[in-house]
Amino acid sequence: MSPFRLTLVSVLIFSWGCGASPAADEPYFPADSQLFGVSPLQDFNDDPGIVEVYIKASKTDGHLQELEDLEFFSYNGMFPGPTLEVNKGDRVIVHFKNELGETTTIHWHGLRIPDEMDGSPRVQDPVANDDYFTYDFVVPDAGTYWYHPHVRSHVQVERGLYGAVVVHDTDVDPSYDNERVIILDDVLIDGSGNFPAPFSEHMEAMHGRSGNYLLTNGNWSLLSEGQAEQGQVERWRIVNTANARTMSIGISGASFRVIGTDGGLLDQPYTTQRLQLPVGQRYDVEVSYDQAGLVTLDSWILVYDESIGNYVSEPFQVYGVDVVATGQTPRVIEWPEITLPQWESSRTEFITLDVVSTATGAINWRINGAANPEAPIFTFEEGETVRFAIDNLAGPEHPFHLHGQFFQIFDAEQPGLKDTVLIPGGSRVMITAKFDNPGAWMAHCHILEHAELGMMSEIYVNESP
Ligand code: C2O
Ligand code: CU
Repeated sequence: MSPFRLTLVSVLIFSWGCGASPAADEPYFPADSQLFGVSPLQDFNDDPGIVEVYIKASKTDGHLQELEDLEFFSYNGMFPGPTLEVNKGDRVIVHFKNELGETTTIHWHGLRIPDEMDGSPRVQDPVANDDYFTYDFVVPDAGTYWYHPHVRSHVQVERGLYGAVVVHDTDVDPSYDNERVIILDDVLIDGSGNFPAPFSEHMEAMHGRSGNYLLTNGNWSLLSEGQAEQGQVERWRIVNTANARTMSIGISGASFRVIGTDGGLLDQPYTTQRLQLPVGQRYDVEVSYDQAGLVTLDSWILVYDESIGNYVSEPFQVYGVDVVATGQTPRVIEWPEITLPQWESSRTEFITLDVVSTATGAINWRINGAANPEAPIFTFEEGETVRFAIDNLAGPEHPFHLHGQFFQIFDAEQPGLKDTVLIPGGSRVMITAKFDNPGAWMAHCHILEHAELGMMSEIYVNESP
């Protein structure tokens, strides 16, 4: 029996409040709309350089196949939340309202914006229930990002609070026949329909909460996401929003190459069979439909095989496109001139990640010997470039995420600018970070259960005079 449900789910439609524009001084929040699928946020500002949107977090009832009465947390009644689509350099104004019944924030994962707009509860007072907050920032970098809360995120993200952020750069972006946002997730629902299942077991504290339902754009399996034509070339923006599961993905039925990562387009695209996508990271891939038929995004998952009494890695088709025959050959996309920085540093700092059990038997995940250290683990000067040796002293892996800055990984197989890096169990990974964004920045494990259990710290960057 496979733990993953891969049948098509019936789409649940919620009634739209009528789609009228907001009155000039009256905040506009859409009524609950539709669970499942990725739709864009509507821009209510006529100025081409300003994107002004309304986001409401609330509880929304829904179902996954036979599981009725699940209480999702949703942005604008949708799961995933609607996509924020902007151009590099745009000013973004987000009118946010919290109707969750508990405090929350929105963190703009990967965007190098001022720290008071970053949704960090270390900087911003969390937004109370029934209260409002206006996020207002200029988007500095093109690429694929995402947004999610930073309060009780192991529950709030699990229950559905996340959405994609797509930042175009019209001067540089190659033109494609189509772009798709593909958000990979899994959720854990126990036999009694608890969503999420209570976070209690030792295994979950050790490895984070891997779900028993794989979701793509909020759905169990999206095997006919519209059509495409043979000869077309598309850009797929893939985000892993799971609490804990590192995804291992590939594409069947078309050729593809990797063109971008956390911090935007690569200077040199590359081909590969399989991509490892830890939680928090993004990959942009260019997909060329060189033949007709079903093209699938495949996710390799460890499943227990009773016949051999062990786990085996099996591919699940989590997304599909029907490609219609035309006899056309895909065009070759001319790669734009992109120069990525080559950061060097003579300063090396050390970050150790480990685990202890407390006297009461609780698990504490630690960064540099402390769980949830209050004081910054480092203070740097604006503009400083620092090399880190990150040592994972325990067995479980940690996707380490730094807010507000990019870094590069010492690994030719993981090129480009990153904000999240996987540190496998018992190993050291080297990165070089460029601290060009002053402020108080969270540095933490993106396995949300690990962050909740202490693997959460701060790095402070002094503003240059
Ligand atoms: Cu995706 Cu601290 O965030
Ligand atoms: Cu971790």
